[in-house]
Amino acid sequence: MKFTVAIDGPAAAGKGTISKAVAAEFGFAHLDTGLLYRAVGAVAADTGRDPAGVAHTLSTDDLARTDLRTAATAQEASKVAVIAEVRAALVDFQRSFAVKPGGAVLDGRDIGTVICPDADIKLYVTASPEERARRRHAELTGKGDDKPFEEVLADVKARDHRDATRDAAPMTKAADAHLIDTTNLSIDAAVAEAARWINEQLSKARA
Ligand code: C5P
Repeated sequence: MKFTVAIDGPAAAGKGTISKAVAAEFGFAHLDTGLLYRAVGAVAADTGRDPAGVAHTLSTDDLARTDLRTAATAQEASKVAVIAEVRAALVDFQRSFAVKPGGAVLDGRDIGTVICPDADIKLYVTASPEERARRRHAELTGKGDDKPFEEVLADVKARDHRDATRDAAPMTKAADAHLIDTTNLSIDAAVAEAARWINEQLSKARA
């Protein structure tokens, strides 16, 4: 049985954590689609190759690179993510993942709007830019990186702006997505709200 959960929203809003928790709780497969764009951005930046060509030939080795989670790769990802041909090259892989038997959770920026407009459940997870920058800053400080808060906030805002204003599949809430604002929520409360919403929709579908 296919059952697709689409989770979109900006960086550091909590959608990755929510997606992993939902996948574990309901036994669904999980795809962090940001990793695809990160891999394309990292390979293109390293090799100088055309990002669309990289996207067409993306390999499992590219997805296993250890530098995909860095802040520099995040910026490279959002630069290649504005290219329509890069996005088009990644569509089939994401759509096939979405119909995996047993259910799938995909998180990204355009899952509920473009990749899986017919998803069974759509969530849009967000938080204020200041709160997201505070989380990122704390994470960096924990890793020994002393990047000032103001710079982290500027990065968050620059990436939001690029993701939300591009022509190709801009980041936006699908009209039928359930909004979860995590600005004032703990991780546990945010995960509980997502699970509550999914259970409610599942009971309605079974009724
Ligand atoms: O989610 P994550 O921060 O890993 O995504 C990195 C970048 O990849 C985003 O800033 C965005 O530009 C791009 N992306 C996208 N569409 C997706 C997932 C990520 O454009 N579905």
